[in-house]
Amino acid sequence: MPLPDEPYESTELLNQYLLFHYGAEHQILPPGGSWPAGMKDALGFTQRTVARFSEGEVGEALDLGCAVGRSTFEMARHARHVIGIDYSESFIGAAKRLRDGEILDYERLDEGRHCARLEAHVPTGVDPDRVAFEQGDAMDLPPDLGPFDRVHAANLLCRLSDPRRLLERLPSLVKSGGELVLTTPCTWLEEFTPRDRWPQGSTFEWLQSFLTDDFELLRQCEEPFLIRESARKFQWSSSMVTVWRRRVR
Ligand SMILES: C[S@@+](CC[C@H](N)C(=O)[O-])C[C@H]1O[C@@H](n2cnc3c(N)ncnc32)[C@H](O)[C@@H]1O
Repeated sequence: MPLPDEPYESTELLNQYLLFHYGAEHQILPPGGSWPAGMKDALGFTQRTVARFSEGEVGEALDLGCAVGRSTFEMARHARHVIGIDYSESFIGAAKRLRDGEILDYERLDEGRHCARLEAHVPTGVDPDRVAFEQGDAMDLPPDLGPFDRVHAANLLCRLSDPRRLLERLPSLVKSGGELVLTTPCTWLEEFTPRDRWPQGSTFEWLQSFLTDDFELLRQCEEPFLIRESARKFQWSSSMVTVWRRRVR
């Protein structure tokens, strides 16, 4: 399956995602700026989507399209073992180095040639021994992968060249009674997904058409997120979050 050129391999995106996942509020929105409340509300996306799972401790969990790994570490607070998988070697390399105890230096672009040096590390209170990262393709996962108690795939679907391949694989990835959290800003773009593979109608109805036979919809909501490109340029977006429970047969 041909994949798009590799936008997620650049140093620029690695820096942006390290800040998005590991940056503190004062690093993303430095004090002194009169930041609108909506920007502050959009911080902490990776923690908020993981918090959408039902409460409780589970055994095995999977984070697909994990990027530099913050949501994978967050899942490990309530799962004994979590695998984070992403197609980007650069992102997975950074996630593995963090898991192995490194403090990662990265640059935050402020403007022009002016950058600030920041550090990323595993979030406090997370046991890195519960976490593993692997480079892999969410559309071509190993047949023996899973099933899991929890599967999380944040903002991945509309970045896949053939999202049906993942949607068709999901029932065999989640245990009976297990949960699935899917989030998507529904930003369908031809640079990632050929137009004939976009949903014909709403993304929500399209998800239902794939998932309803095997999953019960538990919750649907919106979660905003903020990706800082530079001191005065941000992507503010909203993701549709759906939480599903695998039907018990
Ligand atoms: C928009 S980012 C979202 C990352 C992260 N889940 C988050 O919410 O910040 C999309 C991620 O999907 C990854 N990705 C794209 N195609 C993939 C594929 N075929 N298999 C696995 N990961 C993929 C990219 O490398 C990138 O990390």
